[in-house]
Amino acid sequence: MTKSEQAKPVSVKASPKAAKVVLKQLGKNEKIEKLKTDLLVIGVYEDSFPKDKDAKLTGLLSDLNNSFNSEITKLALQEQFQAKLASTLVINSLDRISPKKVLLIGLGTKKDLNKLDQIRKATANAARKADSLKAENVTFILYDNENKLADSDVSRAITEISLLAPYKFNKYLNNSKDSSSKQEDKKFDGIKEINLIFPSESSKKEFDLAKAEVEKGIAGAEGVLLARELIIEPPNIVNPEYLAKVAERVTKDQKDSDLTVKVLGESECRKLGMGAFLAVGQGSENESKLIHFHYKPKKAKKHIAIVGKGITFDSGGLSLKPAKSMEKMKYDMAGSAAVIGLMSIVSKIKPDVEITAVVAACENMPSGASYRPGDVLTSMSGKTIEINNTDAEGRVTLADSVYYACQQKPDAVIDIATLTGAVVVALGETAAGLMTNNSEFADKVKKAFEQSGEKVWELPLYEDYEDDVVKGTIADMINSGSGGQAGSQNGALFVKQFVGETPWVHLDIAGICWPEKRDTHHTPRNNPSGFGVLGFIRYLEGI
Ligand code: BES
Ligand code: ZN
Ligand code: MG
Repeated sequence: MTKSEQAKPVSVKASPKAAKVVLKQLGKNEKIEKLKTDLLVIGVYEDSFPKDKDAKLTGLLSDLNNSFNSEITKLALQEQFQAKLASTLVINSLDRISPKKVLLIGLGTKKDLNKLDQIRKATANAARKADSLKAENVTFILYDNENKLADSDVSRAITEISLLAPYKFNKYLNNSKDSSSKQEDKKFDGIKEINLIFPSESSKKEFDLAKAEVEKGIAGAEGVLLARELIIEPPNIVNPEYLAKVAERVTKDQKDSDLTVKVLGESECRKLGMGAFLAVGQGSENESKLIHFHYKPKKAKKHIAIVGKGITFDSGGLSLKPAKSMEKMKYDMAGSAAVIGLMSIVSKIKPDVEITAVVAACENMPSGASYRPGDVLTSMSGKTIEINNTDAEGRVTLADSVYYACQQKPDAVIDIATLTGAVVVALGETAAGLMTNNSEFADKVKKAFEQSGEKVWELPLYEDYEDDVVKGTIADMINSGSGGQAGSQNGALFVKQFVGETPWVHLDIAGICWPEKRDTHHTPRNNPSGFGVLGFIRYLEGI
Protein backbone atom coordinates (compact mmCIF):
# COMPACT_ATOMS: atom_id res chain seq x y z
CA MET A 1 0.00 0.00 0.00
CA THR A 2 1.35 3.44 -0.81
CA LYS A 3 2.26 5.62 2.10
CA SER A 4 0.73 8.82 0.78
CA GLU A 5 -2.66 7.61 -0.35
CA GLN A 6 -5.05 4.73 0.07
CA ALA A 7 -4.04 2.24 -2.63
CA LYS A 8 -6.14 -0.28 -4.49
CA PRO A 9 -5.95 -3.67 -2.80
CA VAL A 10 -3.21 -5.80 -4.33
CA SER A 11 -4.54 -9.01 -5.79
CA VAL A 12 -2.36 -11.93 -6.75
CA LYS A 13 -3.26 -14.76 -9.06
CA ALA A 14 -2.71 -18.50 -8.70
CA SER A 15 0.78 -19.94 -9.16
CA PRO A 16 1.64 -21.10 -12.67
CA LYS A 17 1.03 -24.79 -13.33
CA ALA A 18 3.60 -26.89 -15.12
CA ALA A 19 2.53 -29.03 -18.07
CA LYS A 20 1.47 -32.58 -17.25
CA VAL A 21 4.29 -35.15 -17.20
CA VAL A 22 3.58 -38.86 -17.45
CA LEU A 23 6.16 -41.59 -17.05
CA LYS A 24 5.23 -44.85 -18.74
CA GLN A 25 6.58 -48.17 -19.85
CA LEU A 26 5.41 -49.67 -23.10
CA GLY A 27 3.68 -53.04 -22.84
CA LYS A 28 4.89 -55.99 -24.92
CA ASN A 29 2.54 -55.31 -27.80
CA GLU A 30 2.76 -51.54 -27.72
CA LYS A 31 4.77 -50.03 -30.55
CA ILE A 32 6.15 -46.52 -30.69
CA GLU A 33 4.72 -46.21 -34.19
CA LYS A 34 1.29 -46.41 -32.63
CA LEU A 35 1.77 -43.69 -29.98
CA LYS A 36 -0.73 -40.87 -30.23
CA THR A 37 1.47 -37.83 -29.89
CA ASP A 38 2.25 -34.64 -31.78
CA LEU A 39 5.97 -35.17 -31.56
CA LEU A 40 7.99 -38.26 -30.83
CA VAL A 41 11.49 -37.32 -29.64
CA ILE A 42 14.08 -40.07 -30.03
CA GLY A 43 17.62 -39.79 -28.69
CA VAL A 44 20.22 -41.19 -31.08
CA TYR A 45 23.94 -41.79 -30.66
CA GLU A 46 26.44 -40.46 -33.11
CA ASP A 47 28.35 -43.73 -33.28
CA SER A 48 25.33 -45.89 -34.06
CA PHE A 49 23.99 -43.44 -36.59
CA PRO A 50 24.63 -44.39 -40.23
CA LYS A 51 27.22 -42.49 -42.19
CA ASP A 52 26.00 -43.65 -45.61
CA LYS A 53 22.60 -44.43 -47.02
CA ASP A 54 23.00 -48.20 -47.05
CA ALA A 55 24.15 -48.44 -43.48
CA LYS A 56 22.02 -50.52 -41.12
CA LEU A 57 19.98 -48.93 -38.41
CA THR A 58 19.49 -50.73 -35.16
CA GLY A 59 16.79 -51.03 -32.50
CA LEU A 60 14.02 -48.45 -32.42
CA LEU A 61 15.39 -46.61 -35.38
CA SER A 62 15.37 -49.64 -37.61
CA ASP A 63 11.66 -50.26 -36.83
CA LEU A 64 10.96 -46.65 -37.56
CA ASN A 65 12.98 -46.71 -40.74
CA ASN A 66 10.87 -49.62 -41.95
CA SER A 67 7.73 -47.53 -41.57
CA PHE A 68 9.41 -44.86 -43.67
CA ASN A 69 10.53 -47.11 -46.56
CA SER A 70 14.08 -46.79 -45.25
CA GLU A 71 14.10 -43.11 -46.07
CA ILE A 72 15.21 -41.85 -42.69
CA THR A 73 18.82 -42.54 -43.48
CA LYS A 74 18.51 -40.68 -46.76
CA LEU A 75 16.91 -37.70 -45.11
CA ALA A 76 19.54 -37.60 -42.38
CA LEU A 77 22.31 -37.60 -44.95
CA GLN A 78 20.61 -34.91 -46.95
CA GLU A 79 20.21 -32.74 -43.88
CA GLN A 80 23.73 -33.58 -42.70
CA PHE A 81 22.35 -34.78 -39.41
CA GLN A 82 25.06 -36.75 -37.61
CA ALA A 83 23.54 -37.07 -34.14
CA LYS A 84 26.06 -34.65 -32.61
CA LEU A 85 25.05 -33.69 -29.10
CA ALA A 86 21.78 -31.71 -29.12
CA SER A 87 21.54 -31.49 -32.92
CA THR A 88 18.04 -32.08 -34.27
CA LEU A 89 16.29 -33.57 -37.28
CA VAL A 90 12.54 -33.13 -37.79
CA ILE A 91 10.72 -35.80 -39.78
CA ASN A 92 7.12 -35.27 -40.77
CA SER A 93 5.45 -38.65 -40.55
CA LEU A 94 2.88 -37.91 -43.29
CA ASP A 95 0.50 -40.34 -41.58
CA ARG A 96 2.82 -43.31 -42.02
CA ILE A 97 2.88 -43.69 -38.25
CA SER A 98 0.63 -42.34 -35.46
CA PRO A 99 3.01 -39.66 -34.10
CA LYS A 100 2.52 -36.58 -36.27
CA LYS A 101 6.20 -35.80 -36.32
CA VAL A 102 9.43 -37.41 -35.20
CA LEU A 103 12.34 -35.45 -33.84
CA LEU A 104 15.72 -37.14 -33.74
CA ILE A 105 17.88 -35.57 -31.09
CA GLY A 106 21.61 -36.22 -31.12
CA LEU A 107 23.21 -37.61 -27.97
CA GLY A 108 26.80 -37.44 -29.24
CA THR A 109 28.99 -40.52 -28.89
CA LYS A 110 28.27 -43.30 -26.40
CA LYS A 111 31.55 -42.85 -24.61
CA ASP A 112 31.10 -39.09 -24.27
CA LEU A 113 27.59 -39.24 -22.90
CA ASN A 114 28.37 -39.39 -19.22
CA LYS A 115 26.97 -36.23 -17.65
CA LEU A 116 23.40 -35.27 -16.91
CA ASP A 117 24.17 -31.86 -18.33
CA GLN A 118 24.43 -33.45 -21.77
CA ILE A 119 20.95 -34.91 -21.37
CA ARG A 120 19.82 -31.45 -20.24
CA LYS A 121 21.33 -29.83 -23.29
CA ALA A 122 19.70 -32.35 -25.63
CA THR A 123 16.36 -32.06 -23.85
CA ALA A 124 16.47 -28.26 -23.91
CA ASN A 125 16.98 -28.23 -27.68
CA ALA A 126 14.32 -30.87 -28.22
CA ALA A 127 11.78 -29.06 -26.03
CA ARG A 128 12.47 -25.71 -27.73
CA LYS A 129 12.07 -27.38 -31.11
CA ALA A 130 8.82 -28.98 -29.93
CA ASP A 131 7.60 -25.56 -28.89
CA SER A 132 8.52 -24.00 -32.22
CA LEU A 133 6.73 -26.88 -33.99
CA LYS A 134 3.70 -26.11 -31.81
CA ALA A 135 3.53 -29.62 -30.45
CA GLU A 136 1.14 -29.82 -27.49
CA ASN A 137 1.77 -33.44 -26.69
CA VAL A 138 5.41 -34.53 -26.75
CA THR A 139 6.81 -38.00 -26.11
CA PHE A 140 10.43 -38.53 -25.20
CA ILE A 141 12.42 -41.71 -25.73
CA LEU A 142 15.65 -40.37 -24.42
CA TYR A 143 17.44 -42.72 -22.10
CA ASP A 144 21.11 -43.50 -22.04
CA ASN A 145 21.07 -47.16 -22.99
CA GLU A 146 24.73 -47.50 -22.11
CA ASN A 147 23.51 -46.92 -18.54
CA LYS A 148 26.24 -44.64 -17.31
CA LEU A 149 23.49 -42.33 -16.15
CA ALA A 150 20.79 -43.63 -13.83
CA ASP A 151 17.39 -43.75 -15.51
CA SER A 152 15.78 -42.06 -12.51
CA ASP A 153 18.21 -39.11 -12.75
CA VAL A 154 17.60 -38.85 -16.48
CA SER A 155 13.84 -38.90 -15.87
CA ARG A 156 14.12 -35.96 -13.51
CA ALA A 157 16.43 -34.02 -15.79
CA ILE A 158 14.09 -34.45 -18.77
CA THR A 159 11.12 -33.45 -16.63
CA GLU A 160 12.70 -30.27 -15.30
CA ILE A 161 14.24 -29.17 -18.57
CA SER A 162 11.31 -29.93 -20.83
CA LEU A 163 9.08 -27.93 -18.49
CA LEU A 164 11.49 -25.00 -18.22
CA ALA A 165 13.52 -24.67 -21.42
CA PRO A 166 10.83 -23.24 -23.73
CA TYR A 167 9.58 -20.48 -21.42
CA LYS A 168 7.49 -17.54 -22.76
CA PHE A 169 5.72 -14.67 -21.02
CA ASN A 170 3.19 -12.97 -23.24
CA LYS A 171 0.56 -11.92 -20.77
CA TYR A 172 0.76 -8.26 -21.75
CA LEU A 173 0.80 -8.80 -25.51
CA ASN A 174 -2.69 -8.03 -26.80
CA ASN A 175 -1.83 -9.42 -30.20
CA SER A 176 0.19 -12.45 -29.24
CA LYS A 177 -2.72 -14.81 -29.89
CA ASP A 178 -4.07 -13.45 -33.16
CA SER A 179 -1.20 -11.67 -34.87
CA SER A 180 -0.50 -14.72 -36.94
CA SER A 181 -2.66 -15.41 -39.93
CA LYS A 182 -2.80 -19.17 -39.55
CA GLN A 183 -5.75 -20.70 -37.75
CA GLU A 184 -3.80 -23.25 -35.68
CA ASP A 185 -1.40 -20.61 -34.37
CA LYS A 186 -4.22 -19.11 -32.41
CA LYS A 187 -4.56 -22.11 -30.22
CA PHE A 188 -0.99 -23.00 -29.35
CA ASP A 189 -0.06 -21.97 -25.85
CA GLY A 190 2.97 -24.11 -25.08
CA ILE A 191 3.51 -27.83 -24.51
CA LYS A 192 0.63 -29.30 -22.52
CA GLU A 193 1.62 -32.90 -21.97
CA ILE A 194 4.98 -34.62 -21.78
CA ASN A 195 5.32 -38.41 -21.88
CA LEU A 196 8.53 -40.14 -20.92
CA ILE A 197 8.84 -43.66 -22.25
CA PHE A 198 10.82 -45.51 -19.60
CA PRO A 199 13.02 -48.45 -20.69
CA SER A 200 10.72 -51.47 -20.75
CA GLU A 201 13.34 -53.88 -19.42
CA SER A 202 13.56 -51.92 -16.15
CA SER A 203 12.15 -53.33 -12.92
CA LYS A 204 9.12 -52.06 -11.05
CA LYS A 205 11.46 -50.74 -8.39
CA GLU A 206 13.44 -48.68 -10.90
CA PHE A 207 10.23 -47.42 -12.42
CA ASP A 208 8.84 -46.34 -9.03
CA LEU A 209 12.09 -44.60 -8.17
CA ALA A 210 11.99 -42.73 -11.46
CA LYS A 211 8.36 -41.80 -10.87
CA ALA A 212 9.26 -40.21 -7.54
CA GLU A 213 12.04 -38.26 -9.27
CA VAL A 214 9.60 -37.07 -11.93
CA GLU A 215 7.27 -35.78 -9.19
CA LYS A 216 10.14 -33.86 -7.60
CA GLY A 217 11.06 -32.53 -11.03
CA ILE A 218 7.53 -31.24 -11.59
CA ALA A 219 7.47 -29.61 -8.16
CA GLY A 220 10.85 -27.99 -8.81
CA ALA A 221 9.74 -26.69 -12.20
CA GLU A 222 6.62 -25.17 -10.63
CA GLY A 223 8.75 -23.42 -8.04
CA VAL A 224 10.97 -22.06 -10.82
CA LEU A 225 7.97 -20.95 -12.88
CA LEU A 226 6.59 -18.98 -9.95
CA ALA A 227 10.00 -17.39 -9.37
CA ARG A 228 10.20 -16.44 -13.05
CA GLU A 229 6.75 -14.94 -13.02
CA LEU A 230 7.57 -12.79 -10.00
CA ILE A 231 10.75 -11.58 -11.69
CA ILE A 232 9.30 -10.84 -15.12
CA GLU A 233 6.11 -9.14 -13.89
CA PRO A 234 6.69 -5.39 -14.02
CA PRO A 235 7.73 -3.41 -10.95
CA ASN A 236 4.48 -1.43 -10.93
CA ILE A 237 2.79 -4.75 -10.10
CA VAL A 238 5.43 -6.58 -8.07
CA ASN A 239 6.04 -4.29 -5.11
CA PRO A 240 6.88 -5.40 -1.57
CA GLU A 241 3.22 -5.86 -0.68
CA TYR A 242 2.71 -8.02 -3.76
CA LEU A 243 5.57 -10.30 -2.75
CA ALA A 244 4.10 -10.53 0.74
CA LYS A 245 0.66 -11.42 -0.66
CA VAL A 246 2.15 -14.14 -2.85
CA ALA A 247 4.05 -15.50 0.16
CA GLU A 248 0.79 -15.64 2.11
CA ARG A 249 -1.10 -17.23 -0.75
CA VAL A 250 1.45 -20.00 -1.38
CA THR A 251 1.42 -20.77 2.33
CA LYS A 252 -2.37 -20.99 2.40
CA ASP A 253 -2.38 -23.13 -0.75
CA GLN A 254 -0.28 -25.75 1.06
CA LYS A 255 -2.74 -26.03 3.91
CA ASP A 256 -1.77 -29.46 5.19
CA SER A 257 1.87 -28.66 5.43
CA ASP A 258 4.08 -27.55 8.27
CA LEU A 259 4.54 -24.14 6.70
CA THR A 260 3.60 -20.79 8.21
CA VAL A 261 4.41 -17.26 7.17
CA LYS A 262 4.28 -13.90 8.84
CA VAL A 263 4.66 -10.50 7.26
CA LEU A 264 6.06 -7.59 9.24
CA GLY A 265 5.27 -4.04 8.16
CA GLU A 266 7.48 -1.02 8.70
CA SER A 267 6.34 -0.27 12.25
CA GLU A 268 7.03 -3.84 13.36
CA CYS A 269 10.43 -3.76 11.69
CA ARG A 270 11.14 -0.49 13.46
CA LYS A 271 10.33 -2.10 16.81
CA LEU A 272 12.88 -4.79 15.99
CA GLY A 273 15.48 -2.11 15.29
CA MET A 274 15.88 -2.79 11.58
CA GLY A 275 17.30 0.63 10.84
CA ALA A 276 19.35 -0.62 7.87
CA PHE A 277 16.54 -2.39 5.99
CA LEU A 278 14.04 0.41 6.63
CA ALA A 279 16.39 3.13 5.37
CA VAL A 280 16.60 1.57 1.90
CA GLY A 281 12.83 1.68 1.37
CA GLN A 282 12.20 5.03 3.01
CA GLY A 283 12.27 6.98 -0.26
CA SER A 284 9.59 4.80 -1.81
CA GLU A 285 5.82 5.25 -1.84
CA ASN A 286 5.50 1.50 -1.31
CA GLU A 287 5.73 0.17 2.21
CA SER A 288 8.62 -2.17 2.95
CA LYS A 289 7.67 -5.67 4.09
CA LEU A 290 9.64 -8.33 5.89
CA ILE A 291 8.44 -11.80 4.92
CA HIS A 292 9.27 -14.63 7.30
CA PHE A 293 8.42 -18.23 6.36
CA HIS A 294 8.84 -21.04 8.81
CA TYR A 295 8.69 -24.69 7.76
CA LYS A 296 8.86 -27.11 10.66
CA PRO A 297 8.31 -30.80 9.93
CA LYS A 298 7.87 -33.28 12.81
CA LYS A 299 11.35 -34.71 12.63
CA ALA A 300 13.84 -32.22 11.33
CA LYS A 301 17.47 -33.26 10.93
CA LYS A 302 18.70 -29.69 10.65
CA HIS A 303 17.58 -26.09 10.61
CA ILE A 304 18.56 -24.06 7.55
CA ALA A 305 17.91 -20.37 6.93
CA ILE A 306 17.56 -18.99 3.41
CA VAL A 307 17.48 -15.24 2.84
CA GLY A 308 16.61 -13.60 -0.49
CA LYS A 309 17.37 -10.06 -1.60
CA GLY A 310 14.04 -8.47 -2.44
CA ILE A 311 14.51 -5.05 -4.03
CA THR A 312 11.37 -4.84 -6.20
CA PHE A 313 12.94 -1.99 -8.14
CA ASP A 314 16.47 -0.67 -7.86
CA SER A 315 16.79 2.85 -9.24
CA GLY A 316 20.03 3.23 -7.27
CA GLY A 317 18.28 5.77 -5.03
CA LEU A 318 19.95 9.18 -4.77
CA SER A 319 23.11 7.57 -6.21
CA LEU A 320 20.88 7.18 -9.26
CA LYS A 321 21.71 4.60 -11.90
CA PRO A 322 22.12 5.70 -15.53
CA ALA A 323 19.06 4.79 -17.67
CA LYS A 324 20.65 1.74 -19.34
CA SER A 325 21.67 0.20 -16.03
CA MET A 326 18.22 0.82 -14.56
CA GLU A 327 16.25 -0.71 -17.41
CA LYS A 328 16.02 -4.24 -16.02
CA MET A 329 16.20 -3.45 -12.32
CA LYS A 330 12.82 -5.06 -11.68
CA TYR A 331 14.86 -8.27 -11.45
CA ASP A 332 16.62 -7.06 -8.32
CA MET A 333 14.21 -9.25 -6.36
CA ALA A 334 15.30 -12.45 -8.13
CA GLY A 335 16.82 -13.80 -4.90
CA SER A 336 13.53 -13.37 -3.09
CA ALA A 337 11.70 -14.92 -6.05
CA ALA A 338 13.83 -18.04 -5.64
CA VAL A 339 12.99 -18.13 -1.92
CA ILE A 340 9.25 -17.74 -2.51
CA GLY A 341 9.37 -20.22 -5.41
CA LEU A 342 11.05 -22.75 -3.16
CA MET A 343 8.63 -22.25 -0.28
CA SER A 344 5.70 -22.54 -2.70
CA ILE A 345 6.47 -26.21 -3.31
CA VAL A 346 8.07 -27.22 -0.01
CA SER A 347 5.09 -29.43 0.90
CA LYS A 348 5.62 -31.40 -2.31
CA ILE A 349 9.22 -32.27 -1.57
CA LYS A 350 8.72 -32.53 2.19
CA PRO A 351 12.35 -32.17 3.27
CA ASP A 352 13.21 -33.38 6.79
CA VAL A 353 14.67 -29.98 7.45
CA GLU A 354 13.41 -27.02 9.42
CA ILE A 355 13.57 -23.95 7.17
CA THR A 356 13.57 -20.29 8.08
CA ALA A 357 13.14 -18.29 4.90
CA VAL A 358 13.35 -14.51 5.00
CA VAL A 359 12.83 -11.76 2.46
CA ALA A 360 13.32 -8.09 3.28
CA ALA A 361 11.28 -6.59 0.44
CA CYS A 362 11.51 -2.91 -0.44
CA GLU A 363 11.97 -0.47 -3.28
CA ASN A 364 15.08 1.67 -3.72
CA MET A 365 13.84 5.05 -4.97
CA PRO A 366 15.02 8.67 -4.98
CA SER A 367 12.78 11.22 -3.27
CA GLY A 368 12.84 13.85 -0.58
CA ALA A 369 12.48 11.06 1.94
CA SER A 370 15.27 8.85 0.62
CA TYR A 371 18.29 7.78 2.58
CA ARG A 372 21.35 9.74 1.51
CA PRO A 373 25.04 9.21 0.95
CA GLY A 374 26.50 10.28 4.27
CA ASP A 375 23.66 8.93 6.39
CA VAL A 376 24.57 6.69 9.30
CA LEU A 377 22.12 3.85 10.01
CA THR A 378 21.87 1.64 13.07
CA SER A 379 21.29 -1.97 12.04
CA MET A 380 19.37 -4.52 14.09
CA SER A 381 22.68 -6.00 15.20
CA GLY A 382 23.63 -2.65 16.73
CA LYS A 383 26.44 -2.11 14.20
CA THR A 384 26.32 1.35 12.64
CA ILE A 385 26.58 1.70 8.87
CA GLU A 386 27.71 4.76 6.99
CA ILE A 387 26.25 5.06 3.50
CA ASN A 388 28.54 6.26 0.75
CA ASN A 389 26.50 4.89 -2.13
CA THR A 390 22.74 4.34 -1.96
CA ASP A 391 23.02 1.98 -4.93
CA ALA A 392 24.85 -0.57 -2.79
CA GLU A 393 21.48 -1.13 -1.10
CA GLY A 394 21.16 -4.90 -1.29
CA ARG A 395 23.80 -5.52 1.36
CA VAL A 396 22.13 -2.91 3.59
CA THR A 397 18.82 -4.80 3.48
CA LEU A 398 20.66 -8.11 3.94
CA ALA A 399 22.43 -6.74 7.02
CA ASP A 400 19.12 -6.86 8.88
CA SER A 401 17.44 -9.77 7.12
CA VAL A 402 20.43 -12.08 7.51
CA TYR A 403 20.86 -11.00 11.13
CA TYR A 404 17.17 -11.60 11.78
CA ALA A 405 17.40 -15.05 10.16
CA CYS A 406 20.43 -15.95 12.29
CA GLN A 407 18.49 -14.99 15.41
CA GLN A 408 16.21 -17.97 14.69
CA LYS A 409 19.31 -20.10 15.44
CA PRO A 410 19.71 -22.03 12.19
CA ASP A 411 22.57 -24.51 11.74
CA ALA A 412 23.54 -22.66 8.57
CA VAL A 413 22.39 -19.74 6.46
CA ILE A 414 22.37 -19.13 2.70
CA ASP A 415 21.67 -15.77 1.14
CA ILE A 416 20.80 -15.35 -2.52
CA ALA A 417 21.06 -11.91 -4.02
CA THR A 418 21.48 -9.90 -7.22
CA LEU A 419 24.18 -8.09 -5.32
CA THR A 420 26.91 -6.82 -7.62
CA GLY A 421 27.52 -5.91 -11.24
CA ALA A 422 31.07 -7.10 -10.55
CA VAL A 423 29.98 -10.75 -10.49
CA VAL A 424 28.70 -10.36 -14.04
CA VAL A 425 32.14 -9.12 -15.06
CA ALA A 426 33.83 -12.01 -13.24
CA LEU A 427 31.59 -14.92 -14.20
CA GLY A 428 29.25 -13.74 -16.95
CA GLU A 429 25.63 -14.73 -17.07
CA THR A 430 25.78 -18.50 -16.81
CA ALA A 431 26.90 -18.99 -13.21
CA ALA A 432 26.33 -17.58 -9.74
CA GLY A 433 29.27 -16.50 -7.62
CA LEU A 434 29.49 -18.41 -4.36
CA MET A 435 31.29 -17.01 -1.32
CA THR A 436 31.45 -18.50 2.14
CA ASN A 437 32.85 -18.43 5.65
CA ASN A 438 32.78 -22.23 5.90
CA SER A 439 34.22 -24.46 3.19
CA GLU A 440 32.59 -27.64 4.48
CA PHE A 441 29.13 -26.13 4.22
CA ALA A 442 29.99 -24.55 0.87
CA ASP A 443 31.03 -27.93 -0.54
CA LYS A 444 27.59 -29.34 0.25
CA VAL A 445 25.86 -26.41 -1.41
CA LYS A 446 28.15 -26.69 -4.44
CA LYS A 447 27.39 -30.40 -4.76
CA ALA A 448 23.64 -29.75 -4.61
CA PHE A 449 23.79 -27.10 -7.33
CA GLU A 450 25.96 -29.38 -9.44
CA GLN A 451 23.20 -32.02 -9.23
CA SER A 452 20.55 -29.52 -10.23
CA GLY A 453 22.50 -28.34 -13.26
CA GLU A 454 22.57 -24.79 -11.92
CA LYS A 455 26.10 -23.47 -12.13
CA VAL A 456 27.87 -21.88 -9.19
CA TRP A 457 31.53 -20.91 -9.01
CA GLU A 458 33.35 -20.10 -5.82
CA LEU A 459 35.09 -16.76 -5.47
CA PRO A 460 37.50 -16.07 -2.62
CA LEU A 461 36.77 -13.90 0.40
CA TYR A 462 40.13 -12.43 1.25
CA GLU A 463 40.43 -10.92 4.68
CA ASP A 464 42.50 -8.09 3.24
CA TYR A 465 39.37 -6.69 1.72
CA GLU A 466 37.44 -6.88 4.97
CA ASP A 467 38.99 -3.64 6.16
CA ASP A 468 37.31 -1.90 3.23
CA VAL A 469 33.85 -2.46 4.69
CA VAL A 470 34.39 -2.58 8.44
CA LYS A 471 35.76 0.92 8.81
CA GLY A 472 33.54 3.85 8.00
CA THR A 473 34.81 7.39 8.43
CA ILE A 474 32.46 7.95 11.38
CA ALA A 475 30.65 4.59 11.77
CA ASP A 476 31.45 0.89 12.34
CA MET A 477 31.00 0.03 8.70
CA ILE A 478 30.67 1.62 5.27
CA ASN A 479 28.37 0.16 2.62
CA SER A 480 30.54 0.55 -0.48
CA GLY A 481 34.11 0.88 0.49
CA SER A 482 36.46 -0.92 -1.85
CA GLY A 483 37.14 1.80 -4.36
CA GLY A 484 36.08 -0.32 -7.30
CA GLN A 485 38.22 -3.37 -6.52
CA ALA A 486 36.91 -6.87 -5.82
CA GLY A 487 33.32 -5.64 -5.91
CA SER A 488 31.64 -9.01 -5.32
CA GLN A 489 33.86 -9.81 -2.36
CA ASN A 490 33.21 -6.35 -1.03
CA GLY A 491 29.46 -6.94 -1.03
CA ALA A 492 29.82 -10.41 0.46
CA LEU A 493 32.25 -9.30 3.17
CA PHE A 494 29.73 -6.68 4.21
CA VAL A 495 26.98 -9.29 4.59
CA LYS A 496 29.39 -11.62 6.40
CA GLN A 497 29.56 -9.16 9.31
CA PHE A 498 25.96 -10.01 10.18
CA VAL A 499 26.05 -13.83 10.30
CA GLY A 500 28.36 -14.13 13.28
CA GLU A 501 29.60 -17.71 13.67
CA THR A 502 26.81 -19.29 11.63
CA PRO A 503 28.12 -21.27 8.64
CA TRP A 504 27.13 -19.12 5.67
CA VAL A 505 27.02 -19.27 1.90
CA HIS A 506 26.38 -16.21 -0.21
CA LEU A 507 25.14 -16.62 -3.80
CA ASP A 508 25.55 -13.56 -6.00
CA ILE A 509 23.12 -14.11 -8.88
CA ALA A 510 23.36 -10.72 -10.59
CA GLY A 511 24.44 -12.40 -13.85
CA ILE A 512 22.54 -15.67 -13.90
CA CYS A 513 19.19 -14.24 -12.75
CA TRP A 514 18.44 -13.09 -16.30
CA PRO A 515 20.80 -14.46 -18.98
CA GLU A 516 20.54 -11.90 -21.79
CA LYS A 517 22.74 -13.14 -24.53
CA ARG A 518 22.58 -16.92 -24.55
CA ASP A 519 20.28 -19.79 -23.69
CA THR A 520 21.13 -21.90 -20.70
CA HIS A 521 19.73 -25.44 -20.41
CA HIS A 522 17.04 -24.13 -18.11
CA THR A 523 16.34 -20.69 -19.55
CA PRO A 524 15.79 -19.27 -23.01
CA ARG A 525 17.87 -16.13 -23.54
CA ASN A 526 16.64 -12.82 -22.26
CA ASN A 527 14.28 -14.32 -19.73
CA PRO A 528 14.39 -14.70 -15.97
CA SER A 529 15.99 -17.98 -14.93
CA GLY A 530 14.41 -18.55 -11.53
CA PHE A 531 17.92 -19.64 -10.51
CA GLY A 532 18.28 -21.13 -7.05
CA VAL A 533 15.04 -23.07 -6.63
CA LEU A 534 16.36 -26.32 -8.10
CA GLY A 535 19.69 -26.13 -6.29
CA PHE A 536 17.99 -25.43 -2.96
CA ILE A 537 15.70 -28.41 -3.44
CA ARG A 538 18.71 -30.67 -4.05
CA TYR A 539 20.43 -29.28 -1.00
CA LEU A 540 17.40 -29.88 1.21
CA GLU A 541 16.92 -33.39 -0.19
CA GLY A 542 20.54 -34.24 0.48
CA ILE A 543 20.52 -33.37 4.19
N1 BES B 1 21.25 -4.39 -8.16
C1 BES B 1 22.60 -4.00 -8.29
C2 BES B 1 23.51 -5.12 -8.77
C3 BES B 1 23.32 -5.55 -10.19
C4 BES B 1 24.06 -4.94 -11.18
C5 BES B 1 22.52 -6.60 -10.50
C6 BES B 1 23.95 -5.35 -12.48
C7 BES B 1 22.41 -7.02 -11.81
C8 BES B 1 23.14 -6.41 -12.79
C9 BES B 1 23.14 -3.52 -6.95
O1 BES B 1 22.26 -3.00 -6.07
C10 BES B 1 24.12 -2.46 -7.26
O2 BES B 1 23.73 -1.49 -7.81
N2 BES B 1 25.36 -2.68 -6.91
C11 BES B 1 26.39 -1.76 -7.20
C12 BES B 1 27.29 -1.71 -6.01
C13 BES B 1 28.28 -0.60 -6.04
C14 BES B 1 27.57 0.73 -5.93
C15 BES B 1 29.25 -0.79 -4.93
C16 BES B 1 27.14 -2.25 -8.42
O3 BES B 1 27.31 -3.45 -8.60
O4 BES B 1 27.52 -1.41 -9.23
ZN1 ZN C 1 20.21 -3.39 -6.29
MG1 MG D 1 21.75 -0.73 -6.07
